[in-house]
Amino acid sequence: MGSKKINNKCGLRQDYDFFSHGLEGVAAFETSISYIDGKDGILIYRGIPIEELAEKSTYEETAYFLIYGSLPTKIELKKFSSDLENHISLNTEDIKWLKDFPVAAHPMDVLNTCVSLMSLPEGGDYEIGRGDLKAGIRIMGKMPSYIAAFDRIRKGKEPIPPDSKLSYAANFLWMLNGEKPKEKEARILDLCLILHAEHGVCASTFGTLVTSSTFSDVYSSIVTAIGTLKGYLHGGANEQVIRMLEGIGSPEKVEKYVSHAMKEKEKIMGFGHRVYKALDPRARILKKYARDLTGKRDEILFKTALKLEEVMEKKFGPKGIYPNVDFYSGFVYKALGIPTDLFTSIFAIARSAGWIAHILEYRESNRIFRPRGIYNGPVNVKYIPIKER
Ligand code: CMC
Repeated sequence: MGSKKINNKCGLRQDYDFFSHGLEGVAAFETSISYIDGKDGILIYRGIPIEELAEKSTYEETAYFLIYGSLPTKIELKKFSSDLENHISLNTEDIKWLKDFPVAAHPMDVLNTCVSLMSLPEGGDYEIGRGDLKAGIRIMGKMPSYIAAFDRIRKGKEPIPPDSKLSYAANFLWMLNGEKPKEKEARILDLCLILHAEHGVCASTFGTLVTSSTFSDVYSSIVTAIGTLKGYLHGGANEQVIRMLEGIGSPEKVEKYVSHAMKEKEKIMGFGHRVYKALDPRARILKKYARDLTGKRDEILFKTALKLEEVMEKKFGPKGIYPNVDFYSGFVYKALGIPTDLFTSIFAIARSAGWIAHILEYRESNRIFRPRGIYNGPVNVKYIPIKER
């Protein structure tokens, strides 16, 4: 792959080695954090299959594993959990900010703004490199509290302080609802967090690394990640899936909806993936929980989802388009009583572990990301002074 001098249609010399639209199929760095086999639908975090972690681990343990590179001992896990807990409480300033936000703000924008605001007190003291882990843990600790408090404030309720006896997932439900979650509910959210904790070089992880590769700080890098995750081609799809299914209305209307989408070349939310050309293993796990948890109220919605999966399999299966993680996760969150517009924020809360793990890993062999674009614009354009235009 030597440097080529390419004369494109505008006749200019353009030096680049390789072109791949959207960087498809390009590997830009080495990582030991996770592995995806898109052909067979396999996902492993640091060597352990996702199914095993989902069954046996907790979110705190998985986050530690991703960030530090080995499974924690009991003492290490206790210390990590208490490090997270030390940052979970919001102070009066935090609550004041949240009360000043417009109630119509999207929770992802709230999260983004809060992480950005978090960087202010540390400001110049923040030591890039040595301070990264501390900042990462601080961000992870605070993210669920911001979202839960914002949801309460926009509903005219007071924020609820965390309970140090609860797990990370249980605390989120407690701060959101003001009721201690049942063990089963906390466990299910915990499982969702594990499933969303890491996923290789997805757009948001790539975004976070582009920012941190300039030796910008962890706060700015996570802000980039949250903004990148928000889009509906990435994490924002989980909210759109539920809205799409509500819009379809019933299983009988699915065929027509898909035919129309195909004609208009519109994407069906919750399907397809740049890497997976088989069923996303996380979707397989979530489908089972969605089926078990969906009650009478959302029965039609769930049947609509099953029908959509069936129709999509027929029409898109041969192209390798299957449900992804976002297709069934919303049903699980809905069953836990979580409002639809919080779904992507929960994804962000979970993925913070993966983002931080990648920032720390990439710092070790940092090289600024700087791809090229191929210029296809005009040449020899005459400058016309403004008064002559
Ligand atoms: N519905 C209909 N057609 C699709 C879909 C879909 N969901 N996904 C891909 N295709 C078609 C696409 O139209 C294209 O067809 P053709 O070859 O005829 O032009 C072909 O499959 C390849 O698609 P692509 O858009 O070039 O694939 P990509 O790798 O650039 O995009 C994707 C991947 C996830 C952005 C895309 O599948 C998509 O937009 N899916 C819907 C949104 C979604 O569910 N996003 C969540 C992604 S997974 C979890 C996460 O990251 O948050």
